[in-house]
Amino acid sequence: SWTTGSVIEEQVAEIRARVGSSRAICGLSGGVDSAVAAALVQKAIGSQLTCVYVDHGLMRKGETEQVEKDFVAATGVQLKVVDAQERFLAALAGVSDPEQKRKIIGREFIRVFEQAQAEIVAEAPGDHPVEFLVQGTLYPDVVESGGGTGTANIKSHHNVGGLPDDLEFQLVEPLRKLFKDEVRMVGAELGLPDEIVHRQPFPGPGLGIRIVGEVTRERLDLLREADAIAREELTAAGLDREIWQCPVVLLADVRSVGVQGDGRTYGHPIVLRPVSSEDAMTADWSRLPYDTLARISTRITNEVAEVNRVTLDITSKPPGTIEWE
Ligand code: XMP
Repeated sequence: SWTTGSVIEEQVAEIRARVGSSRAICGLSGGVDSAVAAALVQKAIGSQLTCVYVDHGLMRKGETEQVEKDFVAATGVQLKVVDAQERFLAALAGVSDPEQKRKIIGREFIRVFEQAQAEIVAEAPGDHPVEFLVQGTLYPDVVESGGGTGTANIKSHHNVGGLPDDLEFQLVEPLRKLFKDEVRMVGAELGLPDEIVHRQPFPGPGLGIRIVGEVTRERLDLLREADAIAREELTAAGLDREIWQCPVVLLADVRSVGVQGDGRTYGHPIVLRPVSSEDAMTADWSRLPYDTLARISTRITNEVAEVNRVTLDITSKPPGTIEWE
C-alpha cells in the first residue's frame, strides 16, 4: 500500500541508480512541487544536484527573495539564481495566445537551464557531466497536458507539453505519479518546513498566464501590485489554508469606464479567482466572506493605478479551468 516512506525509498533508489556518478540540475519555481522534487533528489544524490532558480520576471512580489531564503535555509542545497527577465520579456513580446505563451516560457526555461548547465560544468570542469534535469511534474500535469490515456490536451504545462523537441537533458520526474496532497506528505516527511509544504500552488509560467493579452513589464508590475494586495488580505483574514489558491488575473486588453474623485477613469479589470479543490483536477469557487472581498476590491482600486474594477470569478472547474490561460 501507499506510504510516503515507501515512495521516498523507492524514488531515492531509482534516482541513485539512474543518475549514477553524473550530475543533475533542478529548476526551482518557488512552488511545492519543485521544492519536494529537489529535496527528494538531494536525498538521493546530495551534492551532485544543483538547483537553478530562473527569475523570469513573471514571479509575484517578494517571491524570488523568498525562494533564496526559505529553500536554501531548509535544505542547504546548492542554488544558482539566474536573472533572465529581459530574455523572457523579449521572447513574449507581441504574444497574446495562451498556448503560444506557455510554449515560449517552457522553451526559454530550458534554454536558461542549458546555459546554467554550461556554467556549472565550467565552474567545476573536472567533475562529471550534468546530464539530468529534475522536474516537479505531478500526475495531474501529465494528464492535463494530454500525456495520460484518452485525455485531451487542455493546457501545455510548461514542464510537460511545453518542452522543446531538441531537449539535451534526460528528465528525472520523481513526482510523476503523485497528486498534490501526496506531494505535500512527501515534503513533510522529507523535513521541509510548513511554509514550503503548504504553499498554495503557483503555475510555472507565473504571471505570464495571468495577463490576458500581451505580457509587458508595465502590466506585470500592475498585476504584481494587485496580487500582493489580494494575498495580503487573504492571509490577514486567515483564509490561506481554506482556499486552494487564488489567481489574480489582469484583463489587459479590456477597459471599462469608471469614476474617481470628479474624474472619469478608463482602466483595466482585475479578476479574483479564489478556488477550493482537492487536487486541482476539479475545483469549486470559494465562498469568501464579503468583507474580505470588499477590502481587497477597495484596496486594489485605490492603490493600483490603471485598475478601476475588481470582479469575482464564480465558475467551477469544469467548465472553467483554475487559471485563465
Ligand atoms: P488549471 O488552470 O489547468 O490549473 O485548472 C490546475 C492547477 O495547475 C496549476 N498550473 C500549472 N502548474 N505549470 C505548473 O506547474 C503550469 O504550466 C501550470 N498551469 C496551471 C494551476 O495553478 C492549478 O493549481
